Order: sequence, then C-alpha cells, then structure tokens
Amino acid sequence: MTAPLHPVRTLDARYYTDPEIFRIEQNGLMVRTWQFAGHVSQLLKPGDYFTFDVAGQSLFCIRDKEGEIRAFHNVCQHRAHELVKGEGHTGLIVCPYHAWTYELTGKLRSGPNIGSVPGFDRGEICLTSVKVEEFCGFVFVNLDPDARPMDEWFPGARDELAAFVPHFAELKPVDWVEIPENCNWKVSVENYSECYHCRINHPTFANGVVKPETYDIQPQGYCLRHTTECQNLDRMTYPVDLDANEHAGEYSSWFLWPMFSFQVYPGNILNTYHWRAIGADHVVVWRGWYTIGGTESDIIKNLAAQDRETTVEEDIQLVESVQRGLKSRGFRPGPLVLDPACGVNSEHSVQVLQQWMREAVDG
Ligand code: FES
Ligand SMILES: [Fe+2]
Repeated sequence: MTAPLHPVRTLDARYYTDPEIFRIEQNGLMVRTWQFAGHVSQLLKPGDYFTFDVAGQSLFCIRDKEGEIRAFHNVCQHRAHELVKGEGHTGLIVCPYHAWTYELTGKLRSGPNIGSVPGFDRGEICLTSVKVEEFCGFVFVNLDPDARPMDEWFPGARDELAAFVPHFAELKPVDWVEIPENCNWKVSVENYSECYHCRINHPTFANGVVKPETYDIQPQGYCLRHTTECQNLDRMTYPVDLDANEHAGEYSSWFLWPMFSFQVYPGNILNTYHWRAIGADHVVVWRGWYTIGGTESDIIKNLAAQDRETTVEEDIQLVESVQRGLKSRGFRPGPLVLDPACGVNSEHSVQVLQQWMREAVDG
C-alpha cells in the first residue's frame, strides 16, 4: 500500500516569533556559518582594519605585514577591553586600557611591566583568531574553527560569480542602502528566495528586468542559485553593452545561506544583500552597490533608487504583514506550493530553506 501524499507545510509560527529560537540560532547557526564581514577595498594596505559584529560578537579584520587577511575577536587577552573601533590603519594593535601591544598576526609583543612577572610567557598569548576567507572581493568569517571552506558550502558559486563579474577585483562599494524590516530574518530571506509573489507584487522587476516564466531557483550545496532570462533588453532603464562579455545580458543571483546574497543585473552590475538579524522580529537588510574604483555613477545611483522605491518597498510591506500574521492566533501553517516542474510559481526553494532552518534549530 502506498502512503497517502500530504502536502509539505510551511514552518510553525514559533520559528519566527519565539525569542528562545532566535537565541538558539545566534548561539548555533550564526556561529557555524560563513558570515559577511566587509569588502577587501577596506583592507588595501597592511595594517588596514575594520570592525564588525557577528551573532553579538565584536570582531575585526586586518591585513598583516605579509598581506594576509586575518580576523580576530575584538578583545584584549589581558582583562578583556575592546581593542579597535570603526575602521582605520595601524602598525600594531594597542589596547587602550593598559597598552598591551599585539603584532598584526595577533601575537602579544609587549606590555608595560610584564617582564616583572615571574613565569610570564609572552609566546603563549595571542588574540583569538577566527576563520576568514575572501570570496570575489568580499570578506567572510566563520566562528567555527572546524568550518569547511566556502567552496564546499557553495560549490561552483565562486567561479560562476567571477564569470558574471569579471572586473570584481576593481570594485569598491559606492552606495549602501539600509532597510530596517519589522520581521524575523527568515521571513525576509524566504521572501527573497521565491518569486511566486513577484508577478503580483513587483511589476517593475517582473516587467522591466526579468522574464518570470523563465525564473527558477535551485540549490547548489548551501547556495540558492536564481536564474532567469531577461526581458527585451531595449526596455531596460539603462544601456547594456551586450558585447562586453558572455553574461552581459543576464540576470543571476547567488544566495549564500544563511544571510548574504550576490545579485548581478544585466550589464554585469553587481549588488548585494546582507541580512543582519537584530532580534526575533527585527532584521536590517543592507543593499550594497559597487562600481569600478568606487566612482560615482548615475546609472548605479538611479538603479539603487529605483530598486529602493519599487522592489524593496514592495517587499517591506509583504514581510511585515507576514510577521504580524505569524503572531495571529488564527494562523495554521499552510501547504507550500511545490510544483514538481519547479519554475517561478513554485516554492521548492522555500522548502529547501525551511529544511535548513529546521536543522539549525532542531539539529
Ligand atoms: S585589558 Fe588590554 S591591556 Fe589591559
Ligand atoms: Fe519580493
């Protein structure tokens, strides 16, 4: 006898509303996955550094004298003072509290009067390092010392992205758009990861950029890869040089589980999403835009503004409504629309995401 088929249901509301689940994610998922730190253009010279937060932990990246990028917890190994703030340049890392001084490799170099302490072994003291990788000009860290490399998490993504953005080494951030959303980070990520809602909610995107009937999202390891054909490129709001390279006329996106996405618009225009989970029902999404050398560009400025006013604004309304709905006593998790043929009107990518979300919380 064959078992009756039951539709797969969306996650229970508590995954998006319960502060205890958010705490479990912060202490588990977020410290075991590759998280965005910054851009290599912030670390051009040895001694350049910038600070950032992951899962409530203060960290910093610095380029050492050999040119290697390193990442450390931003905490002194004496009595726990913070070491550096914001971003800048330094030849040595000097703690502001009692002036213990570290090499850019993290090794303790000196400290006032430490030589008077019998048995004090300078060689034993080092800043706590964190795994760090550069990925097409972007810097990611993983707080898990045993983390597998990004190429194993996201197979093929690095080479594909480099083919879509051949000039990535020359890019610099030119515009950051900060988007606070009153919803759980997973509501926002799920919304980003399906286009079942695009046709009725994103007329500019669906009619001006992509061809929805060709849209699909498929997993590639822990990457969700969005592909689509574009509308007639004559209807684009900016000129596209189709001869620039083989991907100049394409749109594509690589979502790197759990909180970052690279997106490439026709014309090889790179832009990024970075979700920063603030609490169970609050997330801030950073949209990054880049140009060669960071030069101002009216095309990018207009594109960023158009995106903010249309797709982003439309999505804010959707995700905040969903978050309110998840708190409703009247909500029962509904079936996902899983079309065996996949495509734009299927939520197979949400099923994959929710599987990862469940594993992160329930093991
Ligand atoms: S806490 Fe850093 S030198 Fe004392
Ligand atoms: Fe959307």
